[in-house]
Formats: sequence, C-alpha cells, structure tokens
Amino acid sequence: MARILQIDVFRHNPADPGSSPRMQTFYVDETESMTLFIALNRIREEHDPSLQFDFCCRAGVCGSCGMVINGRPGLACHTKTQDLPKQIVLLPLPVFQLIGDLSVDTGTWFRDMHERVESWIHTDSEFDPEALEEPMDNAVAETVFELDRCIECGCCIAACATARMRPDFLGAAGLNRIARFVMDPRDERTDDAFYELIGTDEGIFGCMGLLACDDVCPKGLSLQTQLAFVRRKMGWTGLKQLLPNWRRGKRRAHARDRG
Ligand code: SF4
Ligand code: SF4
Ligand code: FES
Repeated sequence: MARILQIDVFRHNPADPGSSPRMQTFYVDETESMTLFIALNRIREEHDPSLQFDFCCRAGVCGSCGMVINGRPGLACHTKTQDLPKQIVLLPLPVFQLIGDLSVDTGTWFRDMHERVESWIHTDSEFDPEALEEPMDNAVAETVFELDRCIECGCCIAACATARMRPDFLGAAGLNRIARFVMDPRDERTDDAFYELIGTDEGIFGCMGLLACDDVCPKGLSLQTQLAFVRRKMGWTGLKQLLPNWRRGKRRAHARDRG
C-alpha cells in the first residue's frame, strides 16, 4: 500500500525580519521511485509555492540539492523516499550561509576555498597554443580525474565537526583539492609551497580524522585515502622544515656551553 509521507521541513527566510526559524509539516502521497527532489517539488506545486530549495540537474551532477535528511547530509535528487521511514525531517546544510528554508549559499564557501588552495595548475612553462598536448600517464590521469569528480555539494563540510567549530577550516573538499594538485605532474608547486597553504589548523592539521566526510560523500570520493595522503605528506614536510632549525639551535646551545 502506498505510504503517506510526513515531511517536516525547516522554514526561515533570513531576509524577512518577521520570519523566525520553525518546522512545517507537509503530507505527500508516495509514488513509485519517488525521490526527495520529486516530493519537494510536489510540496511546492500542491501546498506551498514559497518553499525554497535548490536543484539544477536532478541527476547527482550539479551538487545543488544538498540538505540534511533525517540527520545526515545528502542529495535530495539522489535519495529515494522508499529508503527512508515515512516521517522525514529536512534541514538546510549547516556551516553555509542560509538563503532560505533548505537553500544555502555553497558557492561563496567554495569560491573562497578555491582561492585559498590556489586551485589551478602552477607552472612556469609558457603556454604554446601550437604545441601538441602533453601526454599524461594513464594511471596518473585516472587518479586526477577521480579526485576531480567532486560536485561541490557541501555534504562533507556539513558533516564535519571541525568545520562546525572552525569556520576557516578547508574541509575534506578543500584537502581533496590539494591532493588533486599534488598528484598532477603539471603542477610545479613544491611540498613546502603546499605546506604554506595547508600546514595549519585551518588546513590538514585541524582534521580530526573521524571521517564523517567519507561516510556522506554522494560521489564516493576516496576522502579517507586523500586525507591520510595529505596528512602524511604535510607531516613530513613540517618535520623537515623544523629539523634544520632544531639542529642549528642545538649547535648554538652547544657552542654557548663550551664558552
Ligand atoms: S575526517 Fe577531517 S575533514 Fe573529514 S569530517 Fe572528520 S575532521 Fe572533517
Ligand atoms: S568531496 Fe564529496 S561530499 Fe564533499 S563537496 Fe565533493 S562531492 Fe560533495
Ligand atoms: S539537483 Fe543536481 S545534484 Fe541534485
């Protein structure tokens, strides 16, 4: 028998001084293969056209429809209602600025992240439009392509305890972005240059390693592997930077002791 879904939706319009955060309940007849995206559209068409939520592709590609679904960040267009209990609670993704109801501004966060990790290939080679494309080893190209599959939905950031406590934390999406450029042989940045960008508590050393990001990524990116890779690399880089100073300090202290 078809279920009647009870969908409790967060409502608030920060641009309206008269609005205050509240939950609103809607009832929707479940249909076969219904996604949350379809259910939300039904609510908008049949109950309340003012309901705000984002979508674009409906196919798990654009990353717009991230929200907290029964306590877990996920994509509305990728979530079938049949996989959920008949009571569903929908909240906007935390960390990002609320636009209204279930709609948040992930764009500003991601633009800032890209600027901070200098998200482009750094090279001294002159661009020659006449030159043939340089071939890349297949395995390397596949690895880079795999890490480029991030759709910037923000689910990993919303699930991350550090991002909740530390607004400047780059999050798994930012650290995955760094891994992508470390792997790319065209990027001539050194480990020290990457350390400058992420060798801090706002970067890799703020990560607590509990891997909620890895659990919720709708694209199944290997965030656990990338975080471990970046942490190891930056840990060594930090150590190598510290050691000469430490040795110099020891030598000076020794020379002082000898008078
Ligand atoms: S493993 Fe690191 S990036 Fe992932 S959720 Fe935990 S603190 Fe955030
Ligand atoms: S890493 Fe995964 S969860 Fe995070 S923004 Fe990219 S696709 Fe979304
Ligand atoms: S609408 Fe594009 S990912 Fe859901």
